[in-house]
Amino acid sequence: MVRESTDIVSIELAGPRGEPLPPWEPGAHIDVQLVTRQQRQYSLCGDPADRSTYRIAVLREEFSRGASMYVHDYLRVGRTVHAGTPRNLFPLLSSERYLLLAAGIGITPILPMARALAERGAHWSLNYAVRDGAQFPFQAELDALGDRVTVNAPDRAGRLDLAQFLAEPRPGTAVYCCGPARFTDAVEEAMAAWPRGGLHLERFEPKIGVTRPNEPFTVRCVRSEVTVDVPAELSMLKALEIAGVAVPGSCLRGVCGSCAVTVLGGEPEHRDSLTSDEHSATMYPCVSRSLTPSLEIDV
Ligand code: FES
Repeated sequence: MVRESTDIVSIELAGPRGEPLPPWEPGAHIDVQLVTRQQRQYSLCGDPADRSTYRIAVLREEFSRGASMYVHDYLRVGRTVHAGTPRNLFPLLSSERYLLLAAGIGITPILPMARALAERGAHWSLNYAVRDGAQFPFQAELDALGDRVTVNAPDRAGRLDLAQFLAEPRPGTAVYCCGPARFTDAVEEAMAAWPRGGLHLERFEPKIGVTRPNEPFTVRCVRSEVTVDVPAELSMLKALEIAGVAVPGSCLRGVCGSCAVTVLGGEPEHRDSLTSDEHSATMYPCVSRSLTPSLEIDV
């Protein structure tokens, strides 16, 4: 464990017998089960070429749901935690140019992306917004990436005015962004005039949105040949679980992507924080519901 800043600690996880760990690519995360039965998702921020360890980083949250406080106050070197295999819902896609934007703990998926782009000789730059320019996570590793990295803090390059910085669309540039909700929301708003599909966001917290009241609906699970009634007071994921239809769930907040199912019929109401296309056939039943009286899913 390494203290990266006053409120962020990084942790290296190794297999119990030192066995090589499953491979991963920049943008990937793992589920980690700490104290409660609920899992937390953490982006991998180490070196994908190092198959002996995974590195994650954990922020001390003021209103911790348990895991953050446990890591900072009780987890110590040598203890056992349970972790899943890496999944990547934030992959680096091919582009002419890359603009990486991170704030605070949002640097975790962005750091391996920056390293991979530097190794590839790609055209890229990174703006990292931090509160304190004298003390932020992975400082030495970011400094080693050279002048393509700008640290935005009042005592470094100054605060980043996102509205001004992103006002002009840059065709051919893929933007990868991660950070607290107010940062990702501001980036999304500032890029409203950019070409569709140019912004790739990873959120830690659910997007705040206005949803209509819950209505009951029916789900037909085509492969399992089961039909499930989803009452207004239950999530679709819970109703499937009660009916014995296994769909894995992790965050239960529409941010991790682990409960993804493919819709074959009907119209889903996407309430998650991952979907950018309202007509997407992938839905996340931990939070999303149906706009039509029934849905058909490939489960
Ligand atoms: S369980 Fe995380 S998105 Fe549904």
